[in-house]
Amino acid sequence: MPLAEQIAPATVDLAWVRSQFPSLAQRVNGQPAVFLDGPGGTQVPQRVIDAISLYLSRDNANTGGAYNTSRNTDRMIAEARAAMADFLNCDADEVVFGANMTSLTYAMSRAIGRELVAGDEIVLTLLDHDANFSPWKALEEKGVVVRAAKFNPADCTLDMDDLARQITSRTKLVAVGYASNAVGTINDVAEVIRLARKAGALSYIDAVHYAPHGLIDVRALDCDFLVCSTYKFFGPHMGVLYGKREHLQRLRPYKVRPNTNASPNCWEWGTLNHECIAGIKACVDYWEALGRRASPSVGSRRDAIVAAHSAIHRHERAMTERMLAGLTAIPGLKLYGIGDSRRLDRRCATFAVRSDGHSPLELATKLGDCGFFTWDGNYYALNVTEQLDVERSGGFLRIGFAHYNTLEEVERLLAAMRKIVCV
Ligand SMILES: Cc1ncc(COP(=O)(O)O)c(C=O)c1O
Repeated sequence: MPLAEQIAPATVDLAWVRSQFPSLAQRVNGQPAVFLDGPGGTQVPQRVIDAISLYLSRDNANTGGAYNTSRNTDRMIAEARAAMADFLNCDADEVVFGANMTSLTYAMSRAIGRELVAGDEIVLTLLDHDANFSPWKALEEKGVVVRAAKFNPADCTLDMDDLARQITSRTKLVAVGYASNAVGTINDVAEVIRLARKAGALSYIDAVHYAPHGLIDVRALDCDFLVCSTYKFFGPHMGVLYGKREHLQRLRPYKVRPNTNASPNCWEWGTLNHECIAGIKACVDYWEALGRRASPSVGSRRDAIVAAHSAIHRHERAMTERMLAGLTAIPGLKLYGIGDSRRLDRRCATFAVRSDGHSPLELATKLGDCGFFTWDGNYYALNVTEQLDVERSGGFLRIGFAHYNTLEEVERLLAAMRKIVCV
Protein backbone atom coordinates (compact mmCIF):
# COMPACT_ATOMS: atom_id res chain seq x y z
CA MET A 1 0.00 0.00 0.00
CA PRO A 2 1.47 3.43 -0.93
CA LEU A 3 2.57 5.61 2.01
CA ALA A 4 -0.12 8.25 1.35
CA GLU A 5 -2.86 5.62 1.82
CA GLN A 6 -1.26 4.33 5.01
CA ILE A 7 -1.25 7.86 6.45
CA ALA A 8 -4.77 8.75 5.28
CA PRO A 9 -7.11 5.85 6.09
CA ALA A 10 -9.90 5.08 3.63
CA THR A 11 -12.73 7.62 3.73
CA VAL A 12 -16.07 7.80 1.95
CA ASP A 13 -16.06 10.29 -0.94
CA LEU A 14 -19.51 11.60 -0.05
CA ALA A 15 -19.93 13.88 -3.06
CA TRP A 16 -19.22 10.96 -5.38
CA VAL A 17 -21.38 8.57 -3.33
CA ARG A 18 -24.39 10.87 -3.36
CA SER A 19 -24.02 11.53 -7.08
CA GLN A 20 -24.47 7.77 -7.64
CA PHE A 21 -27.95 7.64 -6.03
CA PRO A 22 -30.53 9.57 -8.10
CA SER A 23 -33.32 9.25 -5.51
CA LEU A 24 -31.35 11.27 -2.93
CA ALA A 25 -32.08 14.46 -4.88
CA GLN A 26 -35.80 14.40 -4.03
CA ARG A 27 -37.51 17.11 -2.01
CA VAL A 28 -40.52 16.98 0.33
CA ASN A 29 -42.53 20.15 1.04
CA GLY A 30 -39.60 22.22 -0.17
CA GLN A 31 -37.10 20.38 2.09
CA PRO A 32 -34.41 17.99 0.86
CA ALA A 33 -35.42 14.36 1.45
CA VAL A 34 -33.29 12.61 4.08
CA PHE A 35 -33.35 8.82 3.72
CA LEU A 36 -33.15 7.33 7.21
CA ASP A 37 -35.13 4.24 6.23
CA GLY A 38 -32.14 2.12 5.17
CA PRO A 39 -32.98 -0.70 7.63
CA GLY A 40 -36.25 -1.14 5.72
CA GLY A 41 -34.46 -0.93 2.36
CA THR A 42 -31.69 1.28 1.00
CA GLN A 43 -31.63 3.43 -2.13
CA VAL A 44 -29.94 2.12 -5.28
CA PRO A 45 -27.17 3.64 -7.38
CA GLN A 46 -27.85 4.48 -11.04
CA ARG A 47 -25.75 1.53 -12.23
CA VAL A 48 -28.19 -0.91 -10.56
CA ILE A 49 -31.16 0.77 -12.27
CA ASP A 50 -29.29 0.68 -15.60
CA ALA A 51 -28.36 -2.99 -15.26
CA ILE A 52 -31.97 -3.99 -14.54
CA SER A 53 -33.21 -1.96 -17.48
CA LEU A 54 -30.48 -3.21 -19.84
CA TYR A 55 -31.21 -6.83 -18.96
CA LEU A 56 -34.90 -6.37 -19.76
CA SER A 57 -34.28 -4.49 -22.99
CA ARG A 58 -31.51 -6.76 -24.32
CA ASP A 59 -31.17 -10.17 -22.63
CA ASN A 60 -34.63 -10.99 -21.29
CA ALA A 61 -34.94 -14.80 -21.49
CA ASN A 62 -35.24 -17.94 -19.44
CA THR A 63 -32.13 -19.96 -18.58
CA GLY A 64 -30.65 -22.98 -20.33
CA GLY A 65 -31.86 -22.23 -23.88
CA ALA A 66 -29.78 -22.82 -27.02
CA TYR A 67 -29.85 -19.21 -28.19
CA ASN A 68 -28.17 -15.86 -27.53
CA THR A 69 -30.30 -14.12 -24.95
CA SER A 70 -30.66 -17.28 -22.89
CA ARG A 71 -26.91 -17.87 -22.98
CA ASN A 72 -26.36 -14.24 -21.97
CA THR A 73 -28.74 -14.78 -19.05
CA ASP A 74 -26.84 -17.89 -17.92
CA ARG A 75 -23.56 -15.96 -18.11
CA MET A 76 -24.97 -12.97 -16.25
CA ILE A 77 -26.27 -15.17 -13.40
CA ALA A 78 -22.87 -16.88 -13.12
CA GLU A 79 -21.18 -13.46 -12.91
CA ALA A 80 -23.61 -12.24 -10.27
CA ARG A 81 -23.02 -15.41 -8.24
CA ALA A 82 -19.26 -14.91 -8.41
CA ALA A 83 -19.69 -11.26 -7.39
CA MET A 84 -21.81 -12.21 -4.36
CA ALA A 85 -19.24 -14.87 -3.48
CA ASP A 86 -16.63 -12.09 -3.27
CA PHE A 87 -19.00 -10.01 -1.17
CA LEU A 88 -19.39 -12.85 1.32
CA ASN A 89 -15.92 -14.43 0.87
CA CYS A 90 -17.03 -17.89 -0.28
CA ASP A 91 -17.13 -19.86 -3.53
CA ALA A 92 -19.74 -19.13 -6.18
CA ASP A 93 -21.41 -22.55 -5.83
CA GLU A 94 -22.12 -21.73 -2.17
CA VAL A 95 -24.35 -18.77 -3.15
CA VAL A 96 -28.12 -19.30 -3.52
CA PHE A 97 -30.42 -16.59 -4.91
CA GLY A 98 -34.00 -16.29 -3.70
CA ALA A 99 -36.95 -13.93 -3.48
CA ASN A 100 -35.90 -12.59 -0.07
CA MET A 101 -34.30 -13.71 3.18
CA THR A 102 -37.62 -14.90 4.65
CA SER A 103 -38.39 -17.29 1.77
CA LEU A 104 -34.83 -18.64 1.74
CA THR A 105 -34.98 -19.26 5.49
CA TYR A 106 -38.31 -21.09 5.23
CA ALA A 107 -36.82 -23.24 2.42
CA MET A 108 -33.81 -24.05 4.55
CA SER A 109 -35.78 -24.66 7.76
CA ARG A 110 -37.99 -27.15 5.90
CA ALA A 111 -34.98 -28.96 4.42
CA ILE A 112 -33.12 -29.08 7.74
CA GLY A 113 -36.36 -30.02 9.50
CA ARG A 114 -36.60 -33.13 7.33
CA GLU A 115 -33.60 -34.52 9.21
CA LEU A 116 -34.76 -33.61 12.72
CA VAL A 117 -36.69 -35.88 15.08
CA ALA A 118 -38.88 -35.18 18.10
CA GLY A 119 -36.74 -34.04 21.02
CA ASP A 120 -34.05 -32.42 18.86
CA GLU A 121 -33.48 -28.81 19.88
CA ILE A 122 -33.05 -25.47 18.14
CA VAL A 123 -31.77 -22.31 19.85
CA LEU A 124 -33.03 -18.90 18.71
CA THR A 125 -32.83 -15.43 20.26
CA LEU A 126 -35.46 -12.92 21.34
CA LEU A 127 -33.41 -10.13 19.74
CA ASP A 128 -33.90 -11.45 16.22
CA HIS A 129 -36.15 -10.36 13.38
CA ASP A 130 -39.07 -12.76 13.11
CA ALA A 131 -37.72 -14.11 9.81
CA ASN A 132 -35.00 -15.86 11.83
CA PHE A 133 -37.50 -17.02 14.44
CA SER A 134 -40.83 -18.21 13.00
CA PRO A 135 -39.34 -20.45 10.24
CA TRP A 136 -37.52 -22.42 12.98
CA LYS A 137 -40.37 -22.23 15.49
CA ALA A 138 -42.56 -23.91 12.84
CA LEU A 139 -40.54 -27.10 13.40
CA GLU A 140 -42.26 -27.51 16.77
CA GLU A 141 -44.98 -29.19 14.67
CA LYS A 142 -42.76 -32.24 14.45
CA GLY A 143 -41.76 -32.28 18.10
CA VAL A 144 -38.58 -30.22 17.82
CA VAL A 145 -37.93 -28.26 21.03
CA VAL A 146 -37.32 -24.56 20.40
CA ARG A 147 -35.49 -22.49 23.02
CA ALA A 148 -34.98 -18.73 22.86
CA ALA A 149 -32.07 -16.88 24.46
CA LYS A 150 -32.86 -13.62 26.24
CA PHE A 151 -31.36 -10.18 25.78
CA ASN A 152 -30.48 -7.59 28.44
CA PRO A 153 -33.28 -5.01 28.44
CA ALA A 154 -30.97 -2.23 29.71
CA ASP A 155 -28.80 -2.10 26.57
CA CYS A 156 -30.47 -4.63 24.23
CA THR A 157 -27.38 -6.86 24.00
CA LEU A 158 -27.69 -10.63 23.83
CA ASP A 159 -27.44 -12.40 27.17
CA MET A 160 -24.55 -14.65 26.16
CA ASP A 161 -24.68 -16.62 29.42
CA ASP A 162 -28.32 -17.44 28.79
CA LEU A 163 -27.54 -18.36 25.19
CA ALA A 164 -24.73 -20.68 26.30
CA ARG A 165 -27.14 -22.29 28.84
CA GLN A 166 -29.76 -22.96 26.13
CA ILE A 167 -27.29 -24.93 23.99
CA THR A 168 -27.27 -28.60 25.01
CA SER A 169 -26.08 -31.89 23.59
CA ARG A 170 -29.48 -32.13 21.81
CA THR A 171 -29.07 -28.78 20.01
CA LYS A 172 -29.03 -29.25 16.25
CA LEU A 173 -29.06 -25.63 15.12
CA VAL A 174 -28.42 -22.17 16.56
CA ALA A 175 -29.96 -19.26 14.61
CA VAL A 176 -28.83 -15.74 15.47
CA GLY A 177 -28.83 -12.28 13.93
CA TYR A 178 -25.55 -10.53 13.13
CA ALA A 179 -27.12 -7.16 14.00
CA SER A 180 -30.53 -6.14 15.31
CA ASN A 181 -32.71 -4.30 12.80
CA ALA A 182 -34.68 -2.81 15.71
CA VAL A 183 -32.06 -1.41 18.08
CA GLY A 184 -28.78 -1.68 16.16
CA THR A 185 -26.91 -4.11 18.47
CA ILE A 186 -24.10 -6.04 16.76
CA ASN A 187 -23.97 -9.54 18.24
CA ASP A 188 -20.82 -11.54 18.91
CA VAL A 189 -21.73 -14.04 16.22
CA ALA A 190 -18.22 -15.51 16.13
CA GLU A 191 -18.72 -16.63 19.73
CA VAL A 192 -22.23 -17.95 19.00
CA ILE A 193 -20.87 -19.95 16.05
CA ARG A 194 -18.10 -21.31 18.27
CA LEU A 195 -20.61 -22.39 20.93
CA ALA A 196 -22.82 -24.02 18.29
CA ARG A 197 -19.93 -25.90 16.73
CA LYS A 198 -18.70 -27.10 20.14
CA ALA A 199 -22.13 -28.64 20.70
CA GLY A 200 -22.13 -30.21 17.21
CA ALA A 201 -24.94 -27.88 16.05
CA LEU A 202 -25.30 -25.94 12.80
CA SER A 203 -25.13 -22.13 12.86
CA TYR A 204 -27.52 -19.97 10.83
CA ILE A 205 -26.66 -16.25 10.71
CA ASP A 206 -29.12 -13.54 9.68
CA ALA A 207 -26.84 -10.83 8.29
CA VAL A 208 -29.64 -8.78 6.70
CA HIS A 209 -29.21 -5.78 8.96
CA TYR A 210 -25.44 -6.09 9.27
CA ALA A 211 -24.57 -6.24 5.56
CA PRO A 212 -24.68 -2.49 4.72
CA HIS A 213 -22.66 -1.64 7.84
CA GLY A 214 -19.98 -4.30 8.31
CA LEU A 215 -17.76 -6.66 6.33
CA ILE A 216 -19.06 -10.22 6.03
CA ASP A 217 -16.49 -13.00 5.88
CA VAL A 218 -18.18 -16.40 6.05
CA ARG A 219 -14.83 -18.20 5.85
CA ALA A 220 -13.44 -16.37 8.87
CA LEU A 221 -16.73 -16.82 10.76
CA ASP A 222 -16.88 -20.50 9.78
CA CYS A 223 -20.67 -20.39 9.95
CA ASP A 224 -22.77 -23.07 8.27
CA PHE A 225 -25.31 -20.69 6.74
CA LEU A 226 -25.64 -16.93 6.40
CA VAL A 227 -28.46 -14.99 4.78
CA CYS A 228 -28.78 -11.40 3.61
CA SER A 229 -31.00 -9.27 1.39
CA THR A 230 -29.49 -7.23 -1.41
CA TYR A 231 -32.12 -4.49 -1.10
CA LYS A 232 -30.61 -3.59 2.28
CA PHE A 233 -27.17 -2.94 0.78
CA PHE A 234 -27.93 -0.85 -2.30
CA GLY A 235 -29.15 -3.64 -4.58
CA PRO A 236 -32.55 -4.83 -5.81
CA HIS A 237 -35.28 -6.60 -3.83
CA MET A 238 -33.84 -10.11 -3.52
CA GLY A 239 -32.33 -12.44 -0.93
CA VAL A 240 -29.04 -14.35 -0.92
CA LEU A 241 -28.10 -17.40 1.11
CA TYR A 242 -24.61 -18.69 1.75
CA GLY A 243 -24.41 -22.36 2.67
CA LYS A 244 -21.30 -24.47 3.18
CA ARG A 245 -20.95 -26.62 0.07
CA GLU A 246 -21.16 -29.85 2.08
CA HIS A 247 -24.58 -28.84 3.49
CA LEU A 248 -26.01 -27.57 0.21
CA GLN A 249 -25.01 -30.84 -1.46
CA ARG A 250 -26.17 -33.15 1.31
CA LEU A 251 -29.47 -31.61 2.44
CA ARG A 252 -32.57 -32.44 0.40
CA PRO A 253 -34.53 -29.39 -0.77
CA TYR A 254 -38.25 -29.61 -1.52
CA LYS A 255 -38.30 -29.05 -5.28
CA VAL A 256 -39.99 -30.01 -8.54
CA ARG A 257 -38.64 -33.09 -10.34
CA PRO A 258 -37.32 -31.51 -13.58
CA ASN A 259 -35.27 -28.98 -11.57
CA THR A 260 -31.64 -30.04 -11.38
CA ASN A 261 -30.30 -31.92 -8.36
CA ALA A 262 -27.04 -30.00 -8.68
CA SER A 263 -26.27 -27.43 -5.99
CA PRO A 264 -26.77 -24.48 -5.73
CA ASN A 265 -29.46 -24.46 -8.48
CA CYS A 266 -31.50 -27.17 -6.73
CA TRP A 267 -32.26 -24.55 -4.03
CA GLU A 268 -33.51 -21.99 -6.56
CA TRP A 269 -37.08 -22.87 -7.37
CA GLY A 270 -38.93 -21.83 -10.49
CA THR A 271 -37.75 -18.94 -12.59
CA LEU A 272 -35.73 -16.40 -10.66
CA ASN A 273 -35.93 -12.62 -10.96
CA HIS A 274 -33.24 -12.36 -13.65
CA GLU A 275 -33.40 -8.58 -13.98
CA CYS A 276 -32.77 -8.21 -10.26
CA ILE A 277 -29.88 -10.66 -10.43
CA ALA A 278 -28.39 -8.36 -13.09
CA GLY A 279 -28.92 -5.58 -10.53
CA ILE A 280 -27.08 -7.62 -7.87
CA LYS A 281 -24.00 -7.82 -10.09
CA ALA A 282 -24.16 -4.03 -10.55
CA CYS A 283 -24.61 -3.59 -6.79
CA VAL A 284 -21.37 -5.47 -6.10
CA ASP A 285 -19.74 -3.38 -8.86
CA TYR A 286 -20.80 -0.33 -6.85
CA TRP A 287 -19.18 -1.71 -3.68
CA GLU A 288 -16.02 -2.38 -5.66
CA ALA A 289 -15.99 1.13 -7.15
CA LEU A 290 -16.53 2.64 -3.69
CA GLY A 291 -13.60 0.65 -2.32
CA ARG A 292 -11.31 1.60 -5.19
CA ARG A 293 -12.11 5.29 -4.70
CA ALA A 294 -11.41 4.99 -0.98
CA SER A 295 -8.23 3.00 -1.46
CA PRO A 296 -6.95 3.29 -5.06
CA SER A 297 -4.16 0.73 -4.70
CA VAL A 298 -6.38 -2.26 -3.77
CA GLY A 299 -6.01 -5.34 -5.96
CA SER A 300 -8.87 -7.85 -6.11
CA ARG A 301 -12.61 -7.21 -6.04
CA ARG A 302 -12.74 -8.71 -2.54
CA ASP A 303 -9.99 -6.32 -1.39
CA ALA A 304 -11.96 -3.41 -2.82
CA ILE A 305 -15.07 -4.54 -0.89
CA VAL A 306 -12.97 -4.73 2.29
CA ALA A 307 -11.72 -1.17 1.62
CA ALA A 308 -15.28 0.06 1.01
CA HIS A 309 -16.33 -1.34 4.37
CA SER A 310 -13.44 0.23 6.20
CA ALA A 311 -14.35 3.65 4.73
CA ILE A 312 -18.03 3.14 5.56
CA HIS A 313 -17.13 2.11 9.09
CA ARG A 314 -15.31 5.41 9.78
CA HIS A 315 -18.09 7.53 8.33
CA GLU A 316 -20.92 5.68 10.09
CA ARG A 317 -19.01 5.77 13.36
CA ALA A 318 -18.74 9.57 13.17
CA MET A 319 -22.51 9.81 12.53
CA THR A 320 -23.21 7.37 15.38
CA GLU A 321 -21.13 9.34 17.89
CA ARG A 322 -22.94 12.56 17.01
CA MET A 323 -26.36 10.86 17.08
CA LEU A 324 -25.77 9.33 20.51
CA ALA A 325 -24.63 12.66 21.97
CA GLY A 326 -27.49 14.53 20.30
CA LEU A 327 -30.32 12.07 21.07
CA THR A 328 -29.41 11.63 24.71
CA ALA A 329 -29.41 15.44 25.16
CA ILE A 330 -33.05 15.77 24.07
CA PRO A 331 -35.30 15.87 27.17
CA GLY A 332 -38.14 13.33 27.17
CA LEU A 333 -36.55 11.13 24.51
CA LYS A 334 -35.54 7.57 25.45
CA LEU A 335 -32.97 5.63 23.46
CA TYR A 336 -33.20 1.82 23.37
CA GLY A 337 -29.98 -0.09 22.78
CA ILE A 338 -26.33 0.74 23.41
CA GLY A 339 -25.94 4.40 24.36
CA ASP A 340 -22.37 4.26 25.66
CA SER A 341 -20.05 5.82 23.07
CA ARG A 342 -17.20 3.60 24.35
CA ARG A 343 -19.02 0.53 23.03
CA LEU A 344 -19.53 1.64 19.44
CA ASP A 345 -18.00 -1.56 18.07
CA ARG A 346 -21.14 -3.32 19.39
CA ARG A 347 -23.68 -1.15 17.60
CA CYS A 348 -24.42 0.17 14.14
CA ALA A 349 -25.98 3.48 13.08
CA THR A 350 -29.56 2.35 13.76
CA PHE A 351 -31.41 4.09 16.60
CA ALA A 352 -34.67 3.15 18.30
CA VAL A 353 -36.26 5.91 20.37
CA ARG A 354 -39.53 6.79 22.09
CA SER A 355 -40.79 10.14 23.26
CA ASP A 356 -42.96 10.88 26.29
CA GLY A 357 -45.41 13.07 24.42
CA HIS A 358 -45.69 11.47 20.97
CA SER A 359 -46.39 8.00 19.65
CA PRO A 360 -43.76 6.57 17.27
CA LEU A 361 -46.26 6.99 14.42
CA GLU A 362 -46.78 10.67 15.30
CA LEU A 363 -43.03 11.24 15.38
CA ALA A 364 -42.52 9.46 12.05
CA THR A 365 -45.36 11.43 10.45
CA LYS A 366 -44.09 14.81 11.68
CA LEU A 367 -40.56 13.98 10.58
CA GLY A 368 -41.86 12.66 7.24
CA ASP A 369 -43.63 15.97 6.59
CA CYS A 370 -40.25 17.72 6.99
CA GLY A 371 -38.55 15.30 4.59
CA PHE A 372 -37.01 12.83 7.10
CA PHE A 373 -37.91 9.23 6.16
CA THR A 374 -37.94 7.10 9.32
CA TRP A 375 -39.93 4.04 10.46
CA ASP A 376 -42.28 3.35 13.32
CA GLY A 377 -43.55 0.08 14.74
CA ASN A 378 -41.86 -3.27 15.38
CA TYR A 379 -40.23 -3.85 11.94
CA TYR A 380 -41.01 -7.57 12.49
CA ALA A 381 -38.65 -7.70 15.48
CA LEU A 382 -41.78 -8.69 17.38
CA ASN A 383 -40.06 -10.38 20.33
CA VAL A 384 -38.05 -7.21 20.97
CA THR A 385 -41.07 -4.90 21.17
CA GLU A 386 -42.97 -7.47 23.26
CA GLN A 387 -40.10 -8.01 25.70
CA LEU A 388 -39.63 -4.25 26.12
CA ASP A 389 -43.39 -3.81 26.49
CA VAL A 390 -43.76 -1.27 23.70
CA GLU A 391 -45.65 -3.46 21.22
CA ARG A 392 -49.08 -2.24 22.34
CA SER A 393 -48.05 1.42 22.23
CA GLY A 394 -46.64 1.65 18.71
CA GLY A 395 -43.15 0.14 19.06
CA PHE A 396 -40.28 2.53 18.40
CA LEU A 397 -39.31 5.28 16.05
CA ARG A 398 -36.36 3.88 14.09
CA ILE A 399 -33.76 6.18 12.54
CA GLY A 400 -31.36 4.24 10.32
CA PHE A 401 -28.28 5.73 8.68
CA ALA A 402 -26.47 4.41 5.64
CA HIS A 403 -23.13 5.53 4.19
CA TYR A 404 -24.86 7.99 1.81
CA ASN A 405 -26.14 10.04 4.77
CA THR A 406 -24.14 13.04 5.93
CA LEU A 407 -23.16 14.63 9.23
CA GLU A 408 -25.13 17.66 8.12
CA GLU A 409 -28.23 15.45 7.83
CA VAL A 410 -27.54 14.22 11.37
CA GLU A 411 -27.56 17.80 12.65
CA ARG A 412 -30.75 18.64 10.75
CA LEU A 413 -32.48 15.52 12.04
CA LEU A 414 -31.48 16.32 15.64
CA ALA A 415 -32.74 19.88 15.27
CA ALA A 416 -36.05 18.62 13.85
CA MET A 417 -36.39 16.06 16.68
CA ARG A 418 -35.75 18.75 19.30
CA LYS A 419 -38.39 20.97 17.74
CA ILE A 420 -41.01 18.20 17.67
CA VAL A 421 -40.28 16.62 21.05
CA CYS A 422 -39.62 19.76 23.10
CA VAL A 423 -42.87 21.66 22.35
C1 LIG B 1 -32.60 -8.37 10.45
C2 LIG B 1 -33.57 -8.78 9.37
N1 LIG B 1 -33.73 -10.07 9.10
C3 LIG B 1 -34.59 -10.50 8.16
C4 LIG B 1 -35.34 -9.62 7.44
C5 LIG B 1 -36.28 -10.15 6.39
O1 LIG B 1 -35.70 -9.91 5.13
P1 LIG B 1 -36.51 -10.10 3.78
O2 LIG B 1 -37.38 -8.92 3.63
O3 LIG B 1 -35.44 -10.19 2.73
O4 LIG B 1 -37.28 -11.37 3.89
C6 LIG B 1 -35.23 -8.25 7.69
C7 LIG B 1 -36.06 -7.28 6.97
O5 LIG B 1 -36.28 -6.18 7.39
C8 LIG B 1 -34.31 -7.82 8.67
O6 LIG B 1 -34.14 -6.52 8.95
